[in-house]
Amino acid sequence: MKANLRIALSSDHAAIPLRQALAAHITAKGWTAVDIGPTTPESTPYPEHGAAAARLVASGDCRLGIILCGTGQGIMLAANKVKGIRCGVCSDTFSARMIRLHNDANMLSIGARVVGEGLALDIVDAFLSAEFEGGRHATRVEMIGALER
Ligand code: RB5
Repeated sequence: MKANLRIALSSDHAAIPLRQALAAHITAKGWTAVDIGPTTPESTPYPEHGAAAARLVASGDCRLGIILCGTGQGIMLAANKVKGIRCGVCSDTFSARMIRLHNDANMLSIGARVVGEGLALDIVDAFLSAEFEGGRHATRVEMIGALER
């Protein structure tokens, strides 16, 4: 992944410290973390935050997005409702690499109550370091897009 690319980050209340750790990690690696919060611990609905990050990616403002909630599942479901978004929940580095290589995922979701910080950082590195392979996978990704029309 090239430097100076913008990565959108958001979460609900269940994942604020982990999201902030990931944002600091992304910044330290030379990428630009566009962390849109929230920053206060009050309960807040994950669909709102998933959609907000997804819109930054779908509009082209950010190249990729990373979103978090307790399980990673709810916020992923919300993000995938935004046209053009391909988001998967990953709790392992193999899946995080493969959703870039084969599925051209443009967003990654992580469950803050599922994985610890060390593994989450590795998952993010695997996701951000891999590039879509194209070829036969491009046809399949286009088929996903066709389902939105
Ligand atoms: C919030 O308690 C929790 O439901 C949320 O973070 C997430 O896990 C939903 O999928």
